Amino acid sequence: MNYDIKDLGLSEKGKIRIEWAGNQMPVLKLIKERFSKEKPFSGVKIACCLHVTSETANLCDALKAGGAEVYLCASNPLSTQDDVAASLVADHQISVFAIHGEGTKTYYQHIETVLDEKPNYTMDDGADLVSAIHKDHKDLTEGIIGGSEETTTGVIRLRSMEKDGKLLYPMIAVNDANTKHFFDNRYGTGQSTIDGILRATNILLAGKRFVIAGYGWCGKGLAMRAKGMGALVTICEVDPLRGLEAIMDGFSVMPMEEAARLGDIFITVTGDIHVLRKEHFEVMKNGAILANTGHFDVEIDIPELTGLATSKRRIRDVIDEYTLTNGRKINLLASGRLVNLAAAEGHPAVVMDMSFANQALCSEFVVKNRDSLEKRVYDVPKEIDQQVAHLKLSSMGIYIDSLTAEQEKYLSSWEMGT
Ligand code: ADE
Repeated sequence: MNYDIKDLGLSEKGKIRIEWAGNQMPVLKLIKERFSKEKPFSGVKIACCLHVTSETANLCDALKAGGAEVYLCASNPLSTQDDVAASLVADHQISVFAIHGEGTKTYYQHIETVLDEKPNYTMDDGADLVSAIHKDHKDLTEGIIGGSEETTTGVIRLRSMEKDGKLLYPMIAVNDANTKHFFDNRYGTGQSTIDGILRATNILLAGKRFVIAGYGWCGKGLAMRAKGMGALVTICEVDPLRGLEAIMDGFSVMPMEEAARLGDIFITVTGDIHVLRKEHFEVMKNGAILANTGHFDVEIDIPELTGLATSKRRIRDVIDEYTLTNGRKINLLASGRLVNLAAAEGHPAVVMDMSFANQALCSEFVVKNRDSLEKRVYDVPKEIDQQVAHLKLSSMGIYIDSLTAEQEKYLSSWEMGT
């Protein structure tokens, strides 16, 4: 078995960590049990480019139980849990190519190694795998049935490939399922970003001016949690509708140009490039803290920050302190990479249960419907989304009402009024 991980000796710790997460992923467990019997992935090689965490380990395990050969590489150089990677290799016989802190070159080499296996299905978080295939390995697409994408940024990349007529196989936008982004993006990112900031800094949030760039699902979740801890939350947006939502949700809204002077903590979560840049760094307060929780490390213009600095030192485990020519100090967390995964453990297993149940069911859907799918980005089938919501609720011991026959009839009739 081929693999490249930090240390196989870490597997014992990884094993119980995977078990702990699995205990909080009842929906995925049910799917795994069915997969074990039905083997929907017999003869299918699945390449996964995902954050290598204890939750992802449970997903890989479910796919393998369904008969797949699974190959896993990281979707971010700083998110790999090395003990989990070790246990996946030692205890689950899954080929993993991921080392926490790997450089960009190794990161892309690991993607290449996974592609050497000639996968039939790709599962991405950020579309790096799919992008490598479309740029350098078009020959592989003949053997590829389809793929699925986990995150907002990845779906944006896929839709742009589709628009340009460049997409070479069918894809499912798992991120866009309601049972994914309503929960993972909002509650998962909301909580785990705060977790990452606190683990990295141990600061008190109460009374601090907490500036969030981006009021999408992730930004909303983060704002809600920061407010709950007593922070004074400011939102920066480019979309008037979202700006309006933010103000009516009770936050202050202003351009970054103004917020930059006021903020104590700045978090980017927009999916776009250089949201925090030179003109903002120059006016920030001494001691300002910057972090990113968007998919790529492009939201904070780190080369510009470096250019403005007379010195840089590592002041805590994942904090770089930059001293600027104006004498002020700016603290950057986790090198501008996803702070929730680089400084904490990512989203809790309870939400990843739904995201990964969607991934598992969508890959089964694509494999089953391989003859009828086109080279398009598909939404998650409504039945899958509903099934995940239903299973999740019942796993929590919560049951809901159903419509009476009279109510069904009322909803489908146009004649009845008051
Ligand atoms: N994305 C965010 N949190 C995650 C986690 N815990 N595992 C895998 N992917 C994630």
